[in-house]
Amino acid sequence: MNVLVIGKGGREHALVQKLSESPMVDELYAAPGNAGITEATCVDIVETDIDGLIALVHSKDIGMTIVGPEAPLELGIADRFHEAGLKVFAPTQKAALLEGSKSYAKAFMQRHEIPSAAYATFSDPEAAKDYIQAQGVPIVVKADGLAAGKGVVVAETTEEAIEAVDDMLVNKRFADAGATVVIEEFMEGKEFSLMAFVNGKDVYPMITARDHKRAYNQDKGPNTGGMGGYAPVPDVSAEDLTFSYEHILQKTADGLIAEGRSFTGVLYAGLMMTQEGPKVIEFNTRFGDPETQIILPLMKNDLLQVFEDVLAGKDPELEWEDQASVGVVLAANGYPEAYKKGMPIPQINGNVYTAYAGVAGTDEQLVANGGRVLLVGAKNDTAPEAAKTVYQALKQIDNNTDYFYRTDIGL
Ligand code: AMP
Ligand code: GLY
Repeated sequence: MNVLVIGKGGREHALVQKLSESPMVDELYAAPGNAGITEATCVDIVETDIDGLIALVHSKDIGMTIVGPEAPLELGIADRFHEAGLKVFAPTQKAALLEGSKSYAKAFMQRHEIPSAAYATFSDPEAAKDYIQAQGVPIVVKADGLAAGKGVVVAETTEEAIEAVDDMLVNKRFADAGATVVIEEFMEGKEFSLMAFVNGKDVYPMITARDHKRAYNQDKGPNTGGMGGYAPVPDVSAEDLTFSYEHILQKTADGLIAEGRSFTGVLYAGLMMTQEGPKVIEFNTRFGDPETQIILPLMKNDLLQVFEDVLAGKDPELEWEDQASVGVVLAANGYPEAYKKGMPIPQINGNVYTAYAGVAGTDEQLVANGGRVLLVGAKNDTAPEAAKTVYQALKQIDNNTDYFYRTDIGL
C-alpha cells in the first residue's frame, strides 16, 4: 500500500521512519515533508492545501493518509477525505474542536465530569480582569483557539495576567483565535502526556511521555514547542494510569460520541498529577511533538497495521519494548526568540536516532531552517542510561556555536 504523511516536522519524520519499517508499505510520501525526511518522497504541497492533497492521493494511488499537524484537522481534512472515499487516520472537523477550542474543551469536560482545572470564559476584557482580581494569582490565561502553542500564559502576578488579557482581547494578538479567553485555576504537580489511538468508543493507549517545554535547564526560560523528553514516565503510578485511561481517555471518547462528534485518530491528553489525582491541562487531537519522536521507537507493532486495525474496529494489540527512550532537541541559538537560518546541520554519530524538523537543503548538505532543528534520541534500559548515549553523541558538536540544547533531559 502507498502511504502519505501530512506535515513537515520531527513528528512527521518519526512517523515516516516507523512506517518505512512496515513490509506492508510500498511507496511512502510526505507532504510537504522536509529535506531530512529521506525515507519518503517529499511532495511540495502544504498541509492546508486539502484539494492539492486529495489530488496527490488520487494520482499516487495512496491507500492510507496520516495527518500530523492540527491546522488541516481544523479545516476539516478528514471530512473531505471521507467525502472523496479516501482512507485517513484523523478526526473530523467536529471532533477536532476538542483541540481547536479550549472553551469547548473545558465545557465538554465539565459536562462529562472529566477532571480539569476550574475556569471561566470571557470576551469582555473588563469582566476578565475583575475575575482575575477576585481569584488571585497564580492564574492561567489561554487564548480560546489555535495559537501554535503560544496562547497560554501562566501568570505569577496580577499584572502579568492582565497584560495577557489585554494582549489577547484588546490588542488581538491571536486575531479570532484570541477573541475569547479561558481563565483557569493554576494546578500544581508534575505533567505527563498520554496519547491513544481512538476509533469511536475504542481507545488504545500508548505509553506515557514527558515533554520539557521550557528552553533552558531545570525547566527555566521561555516556553517552546518542546526541547525534548522521555518515555515512559516512571513516576506515574499504576493507579493514576488506570484512572487516566478510564476517567479521562475513555470518558472523552464516549462523551464525544454522545455529543455527535465521534472521534477517530490520536487523542492526546496533557495531564497534571495533582494532589487530587490526574487532571487534564489540554487535549490535542493529533500526535504530540516531540512525544511521537520519543515513543514510536519503543513500539513493537507495525504502525500501518495499527492504523488499519483501529480503523477496522480491531484491537491493534499494542506492544512496547521494555526500555526507555530519551530525545533531546537541537535548537538554533536564540530560539524561541529571533534566530538565524541557513547554518549547516552537523553530523551526529553514535547509537542514536535522529528526527529532522526545521531543516532545508539537500541530502548532501542539510541547513537549518527553523528554531527546533532536529531531535537526537536513544533507547536503553533506563532513561538516565539512554540520556547518557544521547549526550555522548551531542558532545561531538559542543564547539558549534550555531546551536544549543538542554543538558538535563532524562537524567
Ligand atoms: P498548553 O498549551 O495548554 O499545554 O499549556 C502550556 C503549558 O502551560 C502546560 O504544559 C502547563 O505547563 C502550563 N499550564 C497550562 N494550564 C495550566 C494550569 N491550569 N495550571 C498549571 N499550569 C498550566
Ligand atoms: N507536546 C505538545 C504538543 O504536541 O502540543
